Amino acid sequence: MEARFQNNVGTCLVCFFSIVIWFACNNDSSTPTYSKDIAPIIYKNCTPCHRPSQPAHYAFINYEQVRSNADKILYVINNNLMPPWPADAHYTHFLDEKVLTAAEKALFAKWVELKCPIGDSTKIPPLPSFAEGSTLGVPDKRIAVKPIPIRGDFRDQFLLIKVPFELLNDTLLRAVEFVPGNTRVVHHVNGDMVRFEEGKKQNVFDGNWVCDMKLDSTIKQAYQSIGVLHDDGSYPTLIKSIVNFLPGTLGQQYPDGIGAWKAGKKNAFLLADLHYGPSEKNTWDSSYINIFYAKNIPYRPLKEFQMGTLGVTPIEPPLVIPPNKISSFTTRYRIDKDISILTINPHMHLLGKSFKAYALSPSADTIRLIHIPKWDFNWQFFIRFLRC
Ligand code: HEC
Repeated sequence: MEARFQNNVGTCLVCFFSIVIWFACNNDSSTPTYSKDIAPIIYKNCTPCHRPSQPAHYAFINYEQVRSNADKILYVINNNLMPPWPADAHYTHFLDEKVLTAAEKALFAKWVELKCPIGDSTKIPPLPSFAEGSTLGVPDKRIAVKPIPIRGDFRDQFLLIKVPFELLNDTLLRAVEFVPGNTRVVHHVNGDMVRFEEGKKQNVFDGNWVCDMKLDSTIKQAYQSIGVLHDDGSYPTLIKSIVNFLPGTLGQQYPDGIGAWKAGKKNAFLLADLHYGPSEKNTWDSSYINIFYAKNIPYRPLKEFQMGTLGVTPIEPPLVIPPNKISSFTTRYRIDKDISILTINPHMHLLGKSFKAYALSPSADTIRLIHIPKWDFNWQFFIRFLRC
């Protein structure tokens, strides 16, 4: 009797211990849970685009949405399809880089294998807050883009849109931010600014404001049709690439004292190639542009230049691509003074395969800029370097 009793107690103890060990294991970092491991990864790398009002189809803002799409997520992260980040993180790191490490991918795979445990649901981190209307702060002026009707015919549209605006005085602009209205259809925009010379433009609001880039064959025709030539037919000052937008991009603001653009009393943004993706129903887009004035006169000028096609340096050899052959092309530019590089925006079209940019210092040291091993036309970010 005694022996059996002890035995029972013994069994009981073993059982008790095993429960303790099981609990301990469950809290161990090798068992990933949504609250502890998965939510932080998703919120940082996916939710900025995968939330209501953004163009991505799925929202990932709670456990249920992530759990029910876990297999799809596993597929896209293992195949490096998402998060979209074309730059090779082994080559250079950038600000706001969205890259999953091998350890994060393995953690996600393990979590799926374990049937997606939620963990302690009271410890799910709060959703990051996303700025409504501006990623930079409170603008000095908000300028509406004319509301654009979007046809529900499943076709892409590429428009040139004029966004005229007047200021009381010549003003330095520190940042210009495009805020998409209908994020379901706005794909990207490359925006320049024209500054009209004083006395040469009576009415900045004349002309059509919008033209379909496929219909107007020359730039001059297009400019005429939207009324951005001076009244005497001459060209106003063009400031290139002052505002750009792509899904997931943040407004660009350079460190205080670096760069600013001079706007006059009469100006217009020129949204070239405002690309609306296909829509299944008739709808509208009412985007707008935020401008931020520079508080101080910048002590370091900002200069943007383009290398390659239409840029300051030619492509070598000339850009002729024979069929069925992968060809390589280069372009090089000599800079004779010290500069800081703030942003880089590699650009190729659908035939691009890979892209690499680097600088050589006078002592022939290589300064790595960017490597895109697998070019993807859909993700052409303006990427910012970590330090300036
Ligand atoms: C820069 C914005 C952006 C980020 C960041 C992003 N996505 Fe996406 N994602 C998109 C867009 C836009 C689409 C729709 C693509 C399309 O329609 O071609 C998409 C599509 C998807 C799809 C659907 C694929 C399909 O064809 O069904 C999945 C799944 C997905 N993303 C998962 C993720 C995950 C997981 C992360 C983070 C690890 C992530 N995404 C980060 C923008 C983003």
